[in-house]
Amino acid sequence: MLAAVTLLLLHLLPAHGHSPKHNHDHIARNALPGTWYQPRDHAVGALFARDDFPAVGSAAWTASLPPFTPDGSQTPDVTKLPQAWVDAYTAAKAAGNIPDIPQTTTGGQYPNGLNAVSPDICSSYVGCRGPEDHFNVPDGTLALNFDDGPTELTGQLLDFLKTNNEIATHFVIGYSIQQNVSAWELLLNSGHDLAAHTWSHHQLTTQSDMEVVSELGWSMNIIYLSTGGRVPRFWRPPTGDADNRIRAIAKYVFGMEMIVWNQDTEDWSLTETPPPTTTDVIAGQMNTWLNGPKSPGLMILEHELSNLSIGAFMAAYPLMKSAGWNLQSAARLVNTDGAYRNAPGPTGAVTAAGLLDFKGSGPSDTTNSTGNTASSGSASASVVQPTGSVSGTGSKPASTGAGSSASSTNGSPGSASSVSSSSSPAPTGGAMRLDIAWFNALILGAGAVTYVLL
Ligand SMILES: *[C@@H]1O[C@H](CO)[C@@H](O)[C@H](O)[C@H]1NC(C)=O
Ligand SMILES: *[C@@H]1O[C@H](CO)[C@@H](O)[C@H](O)[C@H]1NC(C)=O
Ligand SMILES: *[C@@H]1O[C@H](CO)[C@@H](O)[C@H](O)[C@H]1NC(C)=O
Ligand SMILES: [Zn+2]
Repeated sequence: MLAAVTLLLLHLLPAHGHSPKHNHDHIARNALPGTWYQPRDHAVGALFARDDFPAVGSAAWTASLPPFTPDGSQTPDVTKLPQAWVDAYTAAKAAGNIPDIPQTTTGGQYPNGLNAVSPDICSSYVGCRGPEDHFNVPDGTLALNFDDGPTELTGQLLDFLKTNNEIATHFVIGYSIQQNVSAWELLLNSGHDLAAHTWSHHQLTTQSDMEVVSELGWSMNIIYLSTGGRVPRFWRPPTGDADNRIRAIAKYVFGMEMIVWNQDTEDWSLTETPPPTTTDVIAGQMNTWLNGPKSPGLMILEHELSNLSIGAFMAAYPLMKSAGWNLQSAARLVNTDGAYRNAPGPTGAVTAAGLLDFKGSGPSDTTNSTGNTASSGSASASVVQPTGSVSGTGSKPASTGAGSSASSTNGSPGSASSVSSSSSPAPTGGAMRLDIAWFNALILGAGAVTYVLL
């Protein structure tokens, strides 16, 4: 079949307003359920150990966090990280668990001609999915998930979800929490699931290991501090930009599992000028996906960034229901409860022990694995082309220019362009898997590739 791939490159730093810092004395009610966080006695809890939990928004709470940077989000100072995080990183590195992969200049762009989708790197920015990435969900299910909150739209979104009796997973940004503590309190009291989306929404492959530790650790910490000690178990990379180095830091230092997606509306961009997509385009995509095959289930990337992005979700919601999808919070759909531990016991060091025991060998745990999704079942990396980016025309990809530079990839932050290319993979269900060689040819051979925005 012919397919044209429209790949967008973007820098997805949300256009946050600069609200004054709030100092509320409200205490989160902690009505949150138990599937999205790591157990209290999980070894990773030692990385965040505190003996009390100051009220959300209080002076003590604020003092426990990196300073607010109103003129723009910054990665919190890597020289001021809690020693426990540094030690956990050092141990994981010494154990050989964190691969040496060079930093990118922007997502997917590696120096020295390194192949972004080789199994050793597996850049999720250009669509490589690692064997432990969660991106598909069980047949017939639709994962509710929203990135980049909390924002001033969070209240409206929560009202809509409550009216419809739905629960979602919110991938929250630490910096955004600091910006609107009131919106954060709404999330904390909503009973929804919380996951980490870093502190300041940088592309992590552009950062050093310690910067990544800072981004992940502080975003976990603000959730931990605000929920009476729950350590998030799931995270999503900003703009989808991770590779095996970033995956390993999240996994071996912080015990987290990465959730990406299998469809993308690019709803984050609705407020761009000019917008790379429109509400009409999104409505068309939703129509296709929601009326399409139910295998695999749908994990559609959505954002609680703007009136338009939540509006696109709300507009599609009636069809999600009428087309018979089973809507569930993303964290609950990818939950591999009991199959994931990063230490053999609550007091052990944060190590790889048991991490790969999805299939039941090795140190076992107290709970059963619940039907793993495809995302944890395969043994090798794969490349997923979001079918939302596929349209009907295209030319054959240029011949494989292995070794040629991919640096022609255009796109300064925020820009978008497209490349057309043909492919022959058969779509299976909602997500089309491409073999790596094909994607490699596309990346290295096409003159003007820009990638997935994520
Ligand atoms: C903070 O978020 C709430 C809830 O979404 C919203 O009502 C409020 O206007 C926001 N505040 C600011 C200063 O943006
Ligand atoms: C977006 O803003 C418009 C105009 O203010 C309003 O009518 C509409 O209800 C808003 N949509 C959402 C989803 O909040
Ligand atoms: C695990 O599953 C088995 C078989 O379904 C069940 O008998 C057992 O009680 C389960 N164990 C836990 C800890 O849930
Ligand atoms: Zn984001």
